[in-house]
Amino acid sequence: MSAGLPPSVDVVVIGAGAAGLMCAIAAGARGRRVLVLDHANKVGKKILMSGGGRCNFTNTGTSPANFISANPHFCKSALARYTPADFIAMVDAHRIAWHEKELGQLFCDESSKLIVRMLLDEAAAVQAQVRTHCTVEEIVHDGDRRFRLRTTLGTLECESLVVATGGLSIPSMGATGFGYEIARRFGHAVLATRAGLVPLTLSGKHLERLQDLAGVSLEVDARCNGMAFRNRMLVTHRGVSGPAILQISSYWQPGDDLRLDLLPDRDILDWLSSRQRERPDAELRSVLADVLPRRFAQRLCEVWLPSRPLKQYGPGQLREVAALLQAWPLVASGTEGYRTAEVTLGGVDTDGLSSATMMSKHVPGLFFIGEVVDVTGWLGGYNFQWAWASGRAAGQAC
Ligand code: FDA
Repeated sequence: MSAGLPPSVDVVVIGAGAAGLMCAIAAGARGRRVLVLDHANKVGKKILMSGGGRCNFTNTGTSPANFISANPHFCKSALARYTPADFIAMVDAHRIAWHEKELGQLFCDESSKLIVRMLLDEAAAVQAQVRTHCTVEEIVHDGDRRFRLRTTLGTLECESLVVATGGLSIPSMGATGFGYEIARRFGHAVLATRAGLVPLTLSGKHLERLQDLAGVSLEVDARCNGMAFRNRMLVTHRGVSGPAILQISSYWQPGDDLRLDLLPDRDILDWLSSRQRERPDAELRSVLADVLPRRFAQRLCEVWLPSRPLKQYGPGQLREVAALLQAWPLVASGTEGYRTAEVTLGGVDTDGLSSATMMSKHVPGLFFIGEVVDVTGWLGGYNFQWAWASGRAAGQAC
């Protein structure tokens, strides 16, 4: 028997994050002997840091439309079989108080620690074991359909192997590309990965024009590649952030046209025309400062818009001003990358997986769940809902 580990279990889950723990709970509930291994010093680090320490654990409006994947249909089955209401029922059973912040986003009233505690309690209740400080060094799959693992805590065998190692974001929290390596080794395609839900960076004159406004925030409608997100944008020292930017970042790639409606929900031309009638001597910059942060309005009029008394604008010029405010071009140079990204886009190609069970179509007994798979949610609790749902789907089959 190997030091610290049982010689054999039914299921090994690599990764004690959101998806891995949920999978262990579901598999343990079926009577499977489950061992969860994580190389980090504690479990669920991303849960702990999520939602500003309060974990935005689901979104009541979750639908397949909130996810990005090369196959938009793949997530449907798992999401339909484990819904936000199912997770809320677990949270309620553990008497964890929660509240809705906005747009269906549910957060703990107190701390994300309660979600990790709940998952560990549920895992313990079904005798699923969890080991930290354990690095998997080698995986061999033999003809008799068993997996043999060599780890830093010893060797062991299992019938089902579940890969729940997450994405590449925040390497300092234990993120690795190990799940992708396993996928490739067992003949799976891995789609190109990139940072998602991430601040955008600006460079050169585009940065110079905004940099000193760091800290200014405004409501915008961010649009790119046919998608639009209405929320706050925040100017930072390196570029732009805030929920509207994080959301659209998942749909943006360098060179893509990114536009912001700076006065969303407003017929800007109509509004400018009425201002012109009511305050013909007012300068554009002071009229804009009534509806935009003053410094931002001023900068718009220094760089992008000529500021003169409103009575001096002809109808065509007023239309040009309205058009710019409605589709202000934001020329980003890149993203802040995995260092600050909330998620990783791309990953294990869903073509090689069963959407019902998350099991490999090439290697029976091998499963991929959570963020390592090419399914990425919007900002707002969707990524955890995918982790719970895909973890549960695999846990019922592994
Ligand atoms: P997760 O990353 O949770 O777990 C993977 C586990 O595998 C980790 O414990 C890691 O240590 C382990 N591991 C990795 N490599 C390994 C190896 N080689 N050997 C052993 N173990 C290994 N989502 C959301 O819905 N609401 C929110 O509020 C937030 N907030 C948020 C904030 C921040 C700062 C980040 C970075 C991310 C979020 N997210 C989020 C996204 C969410 O955290 C993420 O999508 C899920 O945690 C993914 O769950 P997984 O279980 O797939 O991976």
